[in-house]
Amino acid sequence: MTTERPEDASHKKITRRDALKLAGVGGVGLLLGAGGMNGWLQGGAGSSKASTAAASATASAEGIIPFYGKHQAGILTPMQDFICMAAFDLTATTLEDVRKLFKIWTSASARLAEGKFVEEESDNPHLPPGDTGESAGLRPVRTTITFGLGASFFDDRFGLAGKRPAPLVDLPRFNSDEIRKEWSGGDIVVQVCANDPQVAFHALRNLARIARGKAVLHWVQEGFQRTGASDPSGSTPRNLMGFKDGSNNPKVSDPAVADEIVWAQSSDNPAWMAGGSYMVMRRIRMRIEVWDRSSLDDQEATFGRHRHSGAPLSKAGEFDELELDRKDDKGNPVIPANSHVALSHMDGQVKILRRGYSYSSGMDVKTGQLNAGLLFICFNRDPRKQFIPMQQKLASMDKLNEYIAHVGSGLYACLPGASAGGYIGDTLF
Ligand code: HEM
Repeated sequence: MTTERPEDASHKKITRRDALKLAGVGGVGLLLGAGGMNGWLQGGAGSSKASTAAASATASAEGIIPFYGKHQAGILTPMQDFICMAAFDLTATTLEDVRKLFKIWTSASARLAEGKFVEEESDNPHLPPGDTGESAGLRPVRTTITFGLGASFFDDRFGLAGKRPAPLVDLPRFNSDEIRKEWSGGDIVVQVCANDPQVAFHALRNLARIARGKAVLHWVQEGFQRTGASDPSGSTPRNLMGFKDGSNNPKVSDPAVADEIVWAQSSDNPAWMAGGSYMVMRRIRMRIEVWDRSSLDDQEATFGRHRHSGAPLSKAGEFDELELDRKDDKGNPVIPANSHVALSHMDGQVKILRRGYSYSSGMDVKTGQLNAGLLFICFNRDPRKQFIPMQQKLASMDKLNEYIAHVGSGLYACLPGASAGGYIGDTLF
């Protein structure tokens, strides 16, 4: 069936040239807003709500998350629907070239966050276009671009070894790790999140393109969660095991909580990381066929939460407090001691900000099974005190380990934000 939605019809009326003229996002919102383009132009979490109203300057502005600021966007930012992230290895041989790369990435990212092409389009027919073009006419849909540096960035190539932050350790090998090189490490990580996979891909592709001669791709990983279209209410997303994931994330909208858990402080070493954060990426394969054959009781005992409501076992509400001391009438803890939440709760003493996405990567040709899992991403102020002890505990005791394998890994120092006129990394360089 080829029913054409009104927005599709409107879409066709826009020529490439029109789109280029309109590439300034404010222009798109203002000029096209009244013309029945709502579905096509809509972005954002809860975007289906926006679809009923004419796209206005305000609706358009909703899709822009400023790139410049004290902190990089994409860390505390409420999660977008898609992620496209990559690690790069530097081929640049001088610090000056590395600096140049961060300068061009910064100005390009600021434009991409506003839904613009990566550089002004030239009409010269003898040159390749300055932008690959697949985002023409698309709104920025809350695009954020976040940069981080891996430990290898601080080796002896650029004279920066003395500047390696102490928290940027080599992650230890955890019990039952099955880490593969092709999903791990890299000199630089670039996390792009947006509410449209094409917009996210476009941003990453163009950042890779303008890095030519200075950096090459090391790995690329993509992830998703339910979208604003399927869940306008914005409830906690479910992971591919069917459980709500993110319910007990710390309330980082409170700046004191974010300072405590996420942001490196000026009193922490090194000073140039103040306002930055440390990102851990773990590609965690789920043995979903095995999981699908386990009973509901077993699944709920594995997480320590009810599948349907997301409530802690023995409780009714998703956001009810975990009662780890509570016993059933036989004297057993109602939340098993080896369950995922009982262990990751860390007695309430250690917290991280989780910001992960599901991934699905076709079929595992060796087993004929779905290759899918969790692109676990978390931010913390010092992984030596937060992620590492938590993962050590989980790796050795978590009942969830029967169903998962960590196959990729990375730790990156996400730089402080840049102000307009500055660039990402300017506190370091
Ligand atoms: C495939 C792997 C994983 C899955 C499917 C998973 C899933 C879940 C689920 C369903 C919850 C309960 C709801 C919530 O509060 O979000 C949860 C909680 C949590 N998870 Fe995971 N998780 C995984 C890996 C990890 C890893 C590697 C870590 C950190 C090392 C971690 C840390 C946490 C923390 C801190 C909580 C909250 C605990 C609390 O209530 O205080 N998770 N996870």
